[in-house]
Amino acid sequence: MLTFETGLRILRRAAAALLLGVVVAFANLTPAAAQQPANDAALMEALKGTLSGRVSIPDEKSGLLQQPRGREWREMREGPVKSFGGWLLVAVVVGLCAFFAWRGRVRVEGGLSGRTIERFSPTERFTHWLTAVSFIVLGLSGLNMSFGRRLILPLIGPDAFAGLTEIGKWSHDYLSFAFVLGVFLMAVIWLRHNFFNALDAQWFKDGGGILKKGVHPPSSKFNAGQKILFWAVMLGALVQAVSGYMLMFPFYFADMAGMQLSLLVHAVSGILFVALILAHIYIGTLGMEGAFDAMGTGQVDVNWAREHHSLWAKEELGGARAHGDD
Ligand code: HEM
Repeated sequence: MLTFETGLRILRRAAAALLLGVVVAFANLTPAAAQQPANDAALMEALKGTLSGRVSIPDEKSGLLQQPRGREWREMREGPVKSFGGWLLVAVVVGLCAFFAWRGRVRVEGGLSGRTIERFSPTERFTHWLTAVSFIVLGLSGLNMSFGRRLILPLIGPDAFAGLTEIGKWSHDYLSFAFVLGVFLMAVIWLRHNFFNALDAQWFKDGGGILKKGVHPPSSKFNAGQKILFWAVMLGALVQAVSGYMLMFPFYFADMAGMQLSLLVHAVSGILFVALILAHIYIGTLGMEGAFDAMGTGQVDVNWAREHHSLWAKEELGGARAHGDD
């Protein structure tokens, strides 16, 4: 029969059990190293090795639960790759702001003439914008994959972040094809203008004509800086496409080590690519008066053409009349 005494004993045991539960819960919240008994330390040591077993599904790789190389890879990605990449992008933005504060906008020193010539045909502009728009989406969605969890998730919360990242991931996969097509067309239409020649040395000596006022190194359709950009885009796109398609089709072309390498190469080269294109966007918009028109309307002012691409302007004008001539 349940007496008052027995009830009291049961209650005391329940309270003791509850107290033990609370102590265990709090102990789990303290850092692992501070509360590890000897047995746990042995377990943690074992976990540093490879943990694998057998699975009954065809994909035998899934029997590997963890391996030291995977952990090293994750530490590398979360540590040096992300901190180097993140700070590099911050440094580029700060550097561009500092350059703008020091140099200001590169003006057309002879003033705008009001007469224009065609710099880029509709085909060239279509190719540029196909590449540029897809690059911007690839860059933003890629950066979200690298940094979003740390920077965007705390701002917009898990639901919005999950939705955003899913849209980003689909866009990244599908727009990769538009980007590759754009770069391919660029190679076809602009390759012949991008071989280096003796003139390019002068461009470097003159600091690209943008460091000092009144300095205008002679240049054909593309100057040495634009040629470097062209080749960097070709190389960058090749690296991104090869590593990116290896990630998109996992284990078709690479084993586990190859997949890990692909992601590191893709992330590092993607960040370098974004840094380069930030500088390109700066000079094409804020940094230089009249530059955006070349890709916007396709028309540039004759004085702009004479100052920045004198040999090309001479060739184009060579007796021909510019738009705006009476
Ligand atoms: C050229 C075609 C490209 C393809 C096929 C491609 C494909 C991929 C794939 C499959 C992923 C992994 C997504 C995942 O983990 O589920 C990825 C991640 C990423 N991509 Fe691309 N990509 C391409 C171009 C680019 C470009 C141009 C950039 C930079 C502007 C870029 C930047 C990134 C970044 C930063 C990541 C995240 C890496 C990380 O996990 O930290 N990608 N890409």
